[in-house]
Amino acid sequence: MKIVIRDLEIWYNSIKALSNISLEIVDGELTFVIGPNGAGKSTLLKAISLIVPPKWGVIYIDGRDVKLYSVRELAKTIAYVAPHISRSIPSTVLDYLMTARYPYTSFLQFKEDKTDLEVIDKVSRQMNIIHLLNRRLDQLSSGELQRVVIARALTQQPKIILLDEPSAFLDLRYRLEILEHIKNITRTENLITIIAIHDLYLASLYADKIILLSNGSIAACGNVEEVLKEEVIERIYGVRVELLEVKGKRIILPVEPLTLSTPQQNT
Ligand SMILES: Nc1ncnc2c1ncn2[C@@H]1O[C@H](COP(=O)(O)OP(=O)(O)OP(=O)(O)O)[C@@H](O)[C@H]1O
Ligand SMILES: [Mg+2]
Repeated sequence: MKIVIRDLEIWYNSIKALSNISLEIVDGELTFVIGPNGAGKSTLLKAISLIVPPKWGVIYIDGRDVKLYSVRELAKTIAYVAPHISRSIPSTVLDYLMTARYPYTSFLQFKEDKTDLEVIDKVSRQMNIIHLLNRRLDQLSSGELQRVVIARALTQQPKIILLDEPSAFLDLRYRLEILEHIKNITRTENLITIIAIHDLYLASLYADKIILLSNGSIAACGNVEEVLKEEVIERIYGVRVELLEVKGKRIILPVEPLTLSTPQQNT
């Protein structure tokens, strides 16, 4: 499986959110999208999952324009997790996870089958949410809800997983554990996983590839060593940083803002 993006340009009315985006993302790799607020990270994930339409350009999945995929095909192929999750859905965690199995059910199947329950059981163990299955979504803590939402994406058994800020509410242990797990299944099941994230340390720990966006364009793209460089991060984020190597891990330490930050102008 492969995603190929050619000359993508996305506008929201008069605001240009992405331009000149050309990329190739292969399976088995964990890709992180980083960049300042407003750089276009969320828009890129939404474009791949067809939530926002391109003004120009094409996104191919396995050589086929995504626009040609049926709704059912897309649901089996892509799982997208938004950064803000609505708690107001009046459902238990189990019922919520079940909704991810709809693409696999037939018209005559009204109840979950054995495979559905096996998948939910496996994913719930991996995300450590077994004890939450009968709770309502509005009764969960922020981090528990985040694990449930990631679990729903995995329950969908997609080929492509798009996660927008998946670690924002997770505690130290779950940040590492869940990203570690996602990296493992990306490798072993040959998935394409793309994660938008602000935490450069997590990106440095787990990324096979990093796409750095700035003002709606690609400022750098490559492996950790190629993208997480002092001069690149300082220039794009406007922050003086120090690069530390601790036990072979790359840590970008923000020291001070270089200039007063100004909002990004994408138009
Ligand atoms: N629904 C929308 N309507 C109008 N403009 C939008 C909309 N969504 C995003 N934008 C604009 O598009 C640009 C890219 O936004 P996007 O949300 O992709 O950035 P981001 O990199 O995800 O930022 P953040 O780090 O804050 O999440 C920004 O200038 C933003 O203001
Ligand atoms: Mg965003």
